[in-house]
Amino acid sequence: QPYFHYRDSELFVEEVSLAALASQLGTPLYVYSKAALQTAWDAYAQAAKGHQVLVCYGMKANSNLAILQQFARFGSGFDIVSGGELKRVIKAGGNPGKVVFSGVGKEVWEMELALEAGVKCFNVESVPELRRLSDVATRLSKVAPVSLRVNPDVDAQTHPYISTGLKENKFGIAIESALDAYRLAKELPGLNVVGVDCHIGSQITEVSPYLDALDKLLSLIAQLKAEGIELHHLDLGGGLGIRYDDETPLAPGILLDAVFKKLADKGLELELVLEPGRSLVGNAGVLVTEVQYLKHTEDKDFAIVDAGMNDLMRPALYEAWHGVLPIKPRSAQARVYDVVGPVCESADWLAKSRCLAVQEGDLLAIESAGAYGFVMAGHYNSRPRAAEVLVDGKNWHLIRARESFDDLIRGERLLD
Ligand code: LLP
Repeated sequence: QPYFHYRDSELFVEEVSLAALASQLGTPLYVYSKAALQTAWDAYAQAAKGHQVLVCYGMKANSNLAILQQFARFGSGFDIVSGGELKRVIKAGGNPGKVVFSGVGKEVWEMELALEAGVKCFNVESVPELRRLSDVATRLSKVAPVSLRVNPDVDAQTHPYISTGLKENKFGIAIESALDAYRLAKELPGLNVVGVDCHIGSQITEVSPYLDALDKLLSLIAQLKAEGIELHHLDLGGGLGIRYDDETPLAPGILLDAVFKKLADKGLELELVLEPGRSLVGNAGVLVTEVQYLKHTEDKDFAIVDAGMNDLMRPALYEAWHGVLPIKPRSAQARVYDVVGPVCESADWLAKSRCLAVQEGDLLAIESAGAYGFVMAGHYNSRPRAAEVLVDGKNWHLIRARESFDDLIRGERLLD
């Protein structure tokens, strides 16, 4: 990752030494690069050139207010999945008019909040949700702009936990039922049909699943047109993969060129909406952690570090692979280590079988931690959550203070 590089045998983010940050702010510490965010954003902006495209950052990947503020400054929209996420967008100065609201379980208060804020679109995932949304909108004397999230039943060829476009998944409306659902949406008084959307999964590295999904949506769009239902936009969701290990990521330009070609073949002039999360932030962040102990057993060598599964859950949850870089590499003989955390679970590991030359007190950077890192962190084992820093050239901004013990127990009450 170009913005995390060695200079004089020490790992830097842009112009800032990670060791210096760690000594000032402590570990575990999430560190993000603003230039990396910019580069990731530019890839979408360039891919969109000359076409009507709205990129709605899938903010579940990293919802720190300062990160959202940065995306708002880029001109990004936001893909949200809760009322809490909408409040974050507003707090960070984002434009609700560029918000699409996804999620299978929208509650009444969340619909009300989104209608009052004036979101661009509700991505509706079921028929009962259509009815509820129409009722809520009617009660508020509003009309809700809706898209139906269609489940195109394609295999995104990714980890089962992050695959969402197969018919056994809970997401969306089955493609065969979509026409009927649109007919209903058209009749319901509180709704205005504006689009169609899908999201087939995450960490996708092939273009073909997207094109399979697109073909299915295009034939639905044609059927709708024949019934007098004209759409304004087509939302293909997020899901573009990044490089963790040796994957070849799917570049936005490759995907969009193929999509524009298909749309042109059909003579369609729809606005294209995308909801990328991981590909905008994943490789813009690392998690810095300090080696506490080296433990050598008969079977294995463990490097026990001060970040655990509560800080970065992806390895425990998906057996995800994250690169591990020494912040000050040693020339000593390397050994093969499992890098594990302090949490009392066998699943508490960050990396397995890595060749490292380390000693107690050394700092390591866990790579590709910008997406689904801090946002999935918890307090298990009464561990306060890490701090977050955004580096910008020579400067850095603390964008989240490390939690204290008081933060940890806020809201708890002793008995009388
Ligand atoms: N749109 C919808 C409706 C989604 O459900 C998601 C992600 C996105 C957009 C953004 O997808 P992305 O571009 O980031 O792939 N925690 C898992 C990933 C879960 C993704 C959930 N949905 C992980 O750490 O791999």
